[in-house]
Amino acid sequence: MKSYRRLAALLVMAMAPLATLAEESPAESDQIRRVVHVCSACHGEAGNSGNPAFPRLAGQPADYVIAQLDAFRDQKRSEKDPRAYMWGVSALLDDTTIQQLGSYYAQQTPAAGRAGDPALIAKGRTIFQDGVPARGVRACRSCHGDNGEGVTVFPRLAGQHASYVYSQLKTFGTRLRPHGPVMAAEVRNLSNDELRAVAEYVQSR
Ligand code: HEC
Ligand code: HEC
Repeated sequence: MKSYRRLAALLVMAMAPLATLAEESPAESDQIRRVVHVCSACHGEAGNSGNPAFPRLAGQPADYVIAQLDAFRDQKRSEKDPRAYMWGVSALLDDTTIQQLGSYYAQQTPAAGRAGDPALIAKGRTIFQDGVPARGVRACRSCHGDNGEGVTVFPRLAGQHASYVYSQLKTFGTRLRPHGPVMAAEVRNLSNDELRAVAEYVQSR
C-alpha cells in the first residue's frame, strides 16, 4: 500500500510535463523521449523492467503495444492493476503518440531471461512447445513464436516476469481482458501448477 501511494505520487508528478505536450511542438524524437521517461518510472529503462510488478516492454511487437494502449485508454482492459496504473496515463496519449510508443518499444533490445527452477522450466517447456493435445491446449509457440519472441498482435513472452505472466493467464479465464477469449481453452484446461511452469519457462528465455 505504501509503495502504491509512492508510485501514484510519482505518476502525478510525471504527468505534469506530459500534459503540456500538446501545447508545445518539440521535435518528434524529443517528445517521445519525454513520454518514455514517464513510462520508465515503472517499466524500467528502455522497457526492461527489473521489478516483477511491472511488465517488460522491450522488444514487444509494436502492434501488440498499440492494441494494449488502446485497450487501456478505452478502459476495456479492466483488471485492478490496469485500472490503477494504466487508465490514467493512457488517457493522456493521442493516437500518434501511441503509434510512436509501439515503434519505440519494438526497437528496444530485451534483457536476457532469468534462470529459474530447472524442473519447473522443463515442465513448462513441454507445454510451450507441444501444448497438451489431449486437453485441447494448443502449443504456445504456434502463436507466440518458437522462442516466445512474439509477432504482430501476439505478445513477446520471452524474458517476461513469471509472476506477471501467471497473473495474466489467470485473468484470461475472466472477461477482464478484451482479447482474452483467444486463449480460453489454454487457461481453462491447464492446472495452476502447469500455468506456473509455463510462466517460469518463458521468463527463462
Ligand atoms: C505507475 C506505473 C506505470 C506507469 C507510469 C506506466 N505503466 Fe504501463 N503498466 C503498469 C502496470 C502495473 C501494468 C500491468 C497491468 C496488469 O497487471 O495488467 C502495465 C501494463 C502496460 C502495458 C501492457 C503490457 C503487456 O505485456 O500487456 C503496456 C503496453 C504499458 N503498460 C505501456 C506503458 C506506457 C507506454 C507508459 C508510458 C506512457 C506506461 N505504461 C506507464 C504500470 C505503469
Ligand atoms: C491461438 C493463438 C494463441 C495461443 C495458442 C496462445 N496464445 Fe497467448 N496470446 C495470444 C494473443 C492474441 C494474446 C494477446 C491478447 C490481448 O491482446 O490481450 C495472448 C496473450 C498472452 C499473454 C499475455 C501477455 C502479456 O504481455 O500480457 C500470456 C501470458 C500468454 N498469451 C501466454 C500463453 C501461453 C502460456 C500459451 C500456451 C499455453 C499461449 N499463450 C497460447 C494468442 C495465443
